[in-house]
Amino acid sequence: MPLKNTIRWGAISQCLHWLTLVLLLLLAWIGLRMGALPNGPDKIATYALHKSIGLCVLAIVLLRIGWRLFAGSPTPLTDSPHWQHRIAQLTHIALYVLLLAMPLSGWLLNSAAGFPLQWFGLFNLPALTGHNDALHALAVQTHETLFWTLVALVLLHAAAAFYHHLFMGDATLARMLPRGWLRAAQPETPDA
Ligand code: HEM
Ligand code: HEM
Repeated sequence: MPLKNTIRWGAISQCLHWLTLVLLLLLAWIGLRMGALPNGPDKIATYALHKSIGLCVLAIVLLRIGWRLFAGSPTPLTDSPHWQHRIAQLTHIALYVLLLAMPLSGWLLNSAAGFPLQWFGLFNLPALTGHNDALHALAVQTHETLFWTLVALVLLHAAAAFYHHLFMGDATLARMLPRGWLRAAQPETPDA
């Protein structure tokens, strides 16, 4: 499979795309449960795990943006109308913005709470701000709102991908998966 993006998404874009989904599911699962854990070392370790995985998402999204600028994106499938390409583009940009804003708001809320930040216990990261209760409350609210906005947008984005595959029969979804995993009714290139 080619590494760069050609008429399909290449191996690197595919790996980073699906890895992000897995990490987000993990973060949501941990994040929504950790507040209810009894106080103690397990709770502290669970919060630390959430923060470390969240920082991985930040690193991965920076890598993704860099890779996409370098490797480009596949030719749009001409069967879809122009406005659909535009909406897809805007959705992708919004998803990138949310993928950046989520971990940054987590980092900010952690800093404003005055908690230390380590990456899997290996090294410390600096605080983005000093202890500030009002900012902490605002950042917690923002972190939560951004999360549910991300959930809504991902659901729409995934629904659009399945719609393309099931009802339009085009290769939008197949091109984001390794060759041969999914067969689209229409060819993968607009001119094939
Ligand atoms: C894409 C990355 C991230 C996602 C999807 C995510 C998701 C979540 C979710 C769903 C919650 C629970 C919110 C609620 O209780 O309703 C949460 C809470 C929290 N997250 Fe994240 N998070 C991410 C990154 C981070 C990072 C990088 C940090 C810190 C460096 C962080 C720190 C926290 C903390 C401290 C809480 C508890 C907030 C509180 O209720 O006091 N998160 N996160
Ligand atoms: C079941 C879940 C998902 C499905 C079925 C799915 C499907 C797809 C497909 C088919 C494409 C290619 C679209 C095209 O060629 O125009 C794509 C691209 C993209 N997806 Fe998803 N996706 C899912 C989850 C996610 C998640 C969780 C995120 C991030 C929060 C995300 C962000 C993106 C972005 C930014 C692109 C543009 C390509 C890139 O730069 O990597 N997707 N997705």
